[in-house]
Amino acid sequence: ASAHIGVTGLAVMGRNLARNFARNGFTVAVHNRTPARTRALVDEFGHEGTFVPAETAKELVAALQRPRRLMVMVQAGEATDAVIDEFAPLLEAGDMIIDGGNAHFADTRRREAALREQGIHFVGAGVSGGEEGALNGPSIMPGGSAESYAVLGPMFEAISAKVDGEPMSTHVGTDGAGHFVKMVHNGIEYADMQLIAEAYDLLRQVGRYTPAEIADVFRTWNTGRLDSYLIEITAEVLAHTDADTGLPFVDIVADAAGQKGTGRWTVQSALDLGSPATAIAQATFARAASSQEALRTAYRELPGGVSPDLTRSEAARFTAQVEQALYASKVIAYDQGFTMIRDAADEYGWDIDLGAVAGIWRAGCIIRAAFLDRVRAAYAESPALPSLLSQPEFAAEITAAQVPWRETVASATRRGIPVPALSAALAHYDTLRAGRLPAALLQGQRDYFGAHTYRRTDRPGSFHTHWAKADRPETQS
Ligand code: 6PG
Repeated sequence: ASAHIGVTGLAVMGRNLARNFARNGFTVAVHNRTPARTRALVDEFGHEGTFVPAETAKELVAALQRPRRLMVMVQAGEATDAVIDEFAPLLEAGDMIIDGGNAHFADTRRREAALREQGIHFVGAGVSGGEEGALNGPSIMPGGSAESYAVLGPMFEAISAKVDGEPMSTHVGTDGAGHFVKMVHNGIEYADMQLIAEAYDLLRQVGRYTPAEIADVFRTWNTGRLDSYLIEITAEVLAHTDADTGLPFVDIVADAAGQKGTGRWTVQSALDLGSPATAIAQATFARAASSQEALRTAYRELPGGVSPDLTRSEAARFTAQVEQALYASKVIAYDQGFTMIRDAADEYGWDIDLGAVAGIWRAGCIIRAAFLDRVRAAYAESPALPSLLSQPEFAAEITAAQVPWRETVASATRRGIPVPALSAALAHYDTLRAGRLPAALLQGQRDYFGAHTYRRTDRPGSFHTHWAKADRPETQS
């Protein structure tokens, strides 16, 4: 047995990860349910490194050095369970199965616990960066045991993206922590994309800029604090012209957004944890709403807002406001994601270093952004930071952005342009900033109809008002 690692499932992500391992000097045993794919990989890319093709599960396992390291790159869900069921009986205590797919962290926890009984380490590893990242350096978010990271860490670090030589892989935490963090990464990805899309829509509809002009605006923003992969590709998409029609590409694409489920999982988890990830939720619902054809038809002719056209100089000022709104909302969306990770760590007993998570998101992954280096530094300095906004530098930026952020959301509202993520981020800011919330009234309502009791601001205990009685006496329970 000569292979350092085996990869089963050679669709594009599996194939590219296998090639990445091989290009970094590892001997990689490769296997696919249909062996033609295995042969195609070796035929086409065999020269890139040392591959050991395996036709069967047994052959693959036999090719692996001990402790055996087997990376599973199949579809999340049943396919993953089927592959685990096939391979686990062939493995021994100390061996490792790595799931590099977008698995739900609860499945990862279940699988980890079951395989631990057999002494097998199950490592749920989030891998971000798409096809390109898988081949040239992804961001890797592995969970599982510390022992498994001691063995796998150097391999992941070798194939990962780097920032000044620092690898974009770290041991995130035990069992499902890695997949949880990858899920939140995707939730933030949804929010960031939606915020950018809303900014574009405002520049287009209020600023009256063309897609090509907006591409230039994004290119300029990309040289500042918004510097990120998503802003960069947005400019490219907006600058693209459809070859058939000569129209801007963005005008010939059907405006119904797809989703594979990781954003939805993030929102579901946020609800379970009671973590207010509202910008992420609105971004996910915005995709859903865009695909509700019948509803959109039913609402289509209803009136919206009106507002006079902007002069060129007003439009330029508006563009600067939108940059402020976008940046402030982005900070809120990331803060919501980090809050979720902290809430989940408390719930599931994970010890997650938020600074290290921000650190491995600086390159390789879809949400890579220059400002993540400052997020990393903020958590490195104070690991218990309750929010990014507790850090003076971020607080100062948000304070400075406040008025233009409100102006942006107000302009959108006046004109009837939907900005669900920008406005949810602003509402989040105002909710948490408020000295007193109308939650007190909700407590009164709950106590009225359901005797759900309330706490008082002036003394401890749990109270109930007897609303049906004329004098509404209060009792302490
Ligand atoms: C990544 C991406 C990747 C993928 C998601 C989102 O980190 O490389 O997040 O995982 O793009 O599946 O896809 P949807 O938009 O289809 O949900």
